[in-house]
Amino acid sequence: TPAPPCTMIIFGGGGDLTRRLLMPAIYNLTCAGLLNQDFSIVAVDWAEMDTEHLREQLGATIRQFVAQRRATAVTLQEDEWNWLCQRVSYVRGSFDDPATYQRLAEICGTGNCVFYLAVAARFFGTIVSQLDAANLTHETEQSFRRVVVEKPFGSDLGSARALNAKLLASLEESQIYRIDHYLGKETVQNILALRFSNGFFEPLWNRQNIDHVQITAAETVGVEKRGRFYEGTGALRDMVPNHIMQLLAMVAMEAPASFDADAVRDEKSKVLAAIHETTYRDAVRGQYVAGAIAGRPTPGYREEPDVAPDSQTETFVAMKLSIDNWRWAGVPFYLRTGKRLTLRKTEIAVHFKQAPYALFRDTPVEKLTPNIMVLQIQPSEGVTMQFSAKLPGPVVKLGGVRMKFDYADWFQEGPSTGYETLIYDCLIGDATLFQRADNVEMGWRVVQPILDAWQASQGEVCQYEAGRPGPTEADELLARDGRHWLRLTA
Ligand code: BG6
Repeated sequence: TPAPPCTMIIFGGGGDLTRRLLMPAIYNLTCAGLLNQDFSIVAVDWAEMDTEHLREQLGATIRQFVAQRRATAVTLQEDEWNWLCQRVSYVRGSFDDPATYQRLAEICGTGNCVFYLAVAARFFGTIVSQLDAANLTHETEQSFRRVVVEKPFGSDLGSARALNAKLLASLEESQIYRIDHYLGKETVQNILALRFSNGFFEPLWNRQNIDHVQITAAETVGVEKRGRFYEGTGALRDMVPNHIMQLLAMVAMEAPASFDADAVRDEKSKVLAAIHETTYRDAVRGQYVAGAIAGRPTPGYREEPDVAPDSQTETFVAMKLSIDNWRWAGVPFYLRTGKRLTLRKTEIAVHFKQAPYALFRDTPVEKLTPNIMVLQIQPSEGVTMQFSAKLPGPVVKLGGVRMKFDYADWFQEGPSTGYETLIYDCLIGDATLFQRADNVEMGWRVVQPILDAWQASQGEVCQYEAGRPGPTEADELLARDGRHWLRLTA
């Protein structure tokens, strides 16, 4: 069903996020017939530009996007694109100037509005107060007013709390849609579908049967043109309290009583709150030096533009977490994420306990193939199970085999960018896949002790060569527990 009529006001509408991610997703929603005839977009930005120019820019990017997508039609659906493009207009204005909001008030009238903050985090507070001052946040029986807030949501626990307080001074919690684009990923949503709509996983999903869990978000890209942002951020802040905590919550949460937004978000907060307080000894930070990725020489982090030559910013982090509750006591969760690693791969590997004793003479228990269920999030999307099987032949010998469900294979279509689901959900008022204030704060709570320790220079920055799976110290983090990381292979 198409979403209700709505004007979507994008602050930062002339920027990169809008061109590269929002517009392609909105175009896909158009093609799927999920937008209302009365849908329109107002892009607000300070740059000197007009509507025609913006439309041209958006058109150029959408053509590139469509050409690059292997899973969707290779040519642009011109009618759909024209329909959408005609609904885009540009308002030039500064985010702290009340006149900008007067213009918007005239445009919005009394209709439904989504205000999308696709801007640097320092503008979030200002924009929301200005919206409030111009009476743009006021909802009526007939119309909704929602605000979408992009990442980064604060830079530590204190600033995340302050930002929540600031937003909540002008808005109701139910009007705030905090985006974590990982939650839009089909395969991330599939974690809940897998666990809670099948009979055979959940009975095994606990400390009796699971030895440990590994969450990996490995990237081959470096910091691209974002050196300045990344210098003040680092891998821990950039990926862990948000994306990785979301993955962890999906894997570890209890079954919600319903699929209502608050029922799901309550369970997430509960499991994040049960994470045992971390210390810097549970974490390893790394920074890449020059190396090679897929045979191509790659410069080190300190040689990237806008990066200090003596930068201490981490581009890799590995962590060990424990969850203090009945389901997970004693089951470590190991996390790792980094830039310029061997290959791009995001996955959750659930390592099950071994068979209790060695029935097969030639294969002692410790030599059995580990039973691992891998939830693959990207780039290939699916679920793999690894287990032992009898090798063909007259002699009983065991070997490891894999059973694989592949999204693209089965559904003949790859998952979307993630933004389609999130934008559509916001238009229809379903906040299940958005973070509530407490979810965000719980994520920061987990990493805060490590941020503090690093700030106080505890825990050295270990080096790794670009193209390697991370620093060797990250291997030691698991070796201490007699475990090792799953190899980073395609
Ligand atoms: C963003 C981070 O939130 O997520 C980036 O700021 C990172 O540094 C990106 O590259 C990863 O997203 P994805 O969807 O490519 O896994």
